[in-house]
Amino acid sequence: MPTLLHIDSSPRLEESVTRSLSAYFVQRWCERVPAGIVVRRDLGLSPPPHPDAFTLEAAAVIEAARDARQQAAAALSDRLLEELEAADVVLVGAPMYNFSVTSGLKAWFDLVSRPGRTFRYGPNGQEGLLSGKMVVAVTARGGFYRQGAGNTTGEDLQEAQIDSFFRFMGLDDIHFVHAEGQAIDAATAAAQQAQARTEIDRLLAA
Ligand SMILES: Cc1cc2nc3c(=O)[nH]c(=O)nc-3n(C[C@H](O)[C@H](O)[C@H](O)COP(=O)(O)O)c2cc1C
Repeated sequence: MPTLLHIDSSPRLEESVTRSLSAYFVQRWCERVPAGIVVRRDLGLSPPPHPDAFTLEAAAVIEAARDARQQAAAALSDRLLEELEAADVVLVGAPMYNFSVTSGLKAWFDLVSRPGRTFRYGPNGQEGLLSGKMVVAVTARGGFYRQGAGNTTGEDLQEAQIDSFFRFMGLDDIHFVHAEGQAIDAATAAAQQAQARTEIDRLLAA
């Protein structure tokens, strides 16, 4: 069955623009793929801990060779990675925080990056080991970076980080839906959200 991994990373709940847009994407995807499976990972409500050295070292050891302490330390990283590997569509709701992603989403990036599973280095340099997944990142920003005035100084580190992260793993079918200008005024915010919903419809129709 096609599987959609639905990730949210806003700490906000009812007020969150990215949660509302990612929920819209899930609703429309389920209409198109009624037998599809949706797996939920809420990094805003339950942020993963920033990995410490022991966790990172334990995760890099193959499961059969880990001792009990290493196995316990690597359990969350394993679980998150399995969710990513099993997904056909990876949907990421991502608020812009200080020009980039929230710390919860960054911790997820660090926990699912796994030598030998998502990437490897070899004689030809780096090689991504994942394939065949569509990635959709739905973002919200207080200001404007992509449309209209702005972004003249390359401040949008968020799109660059998300894009580089998934490309490094071998995924290149990556789409961005931005709701910008959320802090400008209510009319601008609403218009941007409506535009984002139209973009989601267009993406799913394609
Ligand atoms: C800690 C924090 C940092 C933020 N940094 C930025 C920023 O760098 N640029 C920006 O345009 N908006 C910034 N914002 C505004 C958020 O991107 C905006 O409120 C967005 O709607 C948050 O997503 P959410 O509604 O899903 O929670 C920031 C908000 C917070 C709380």
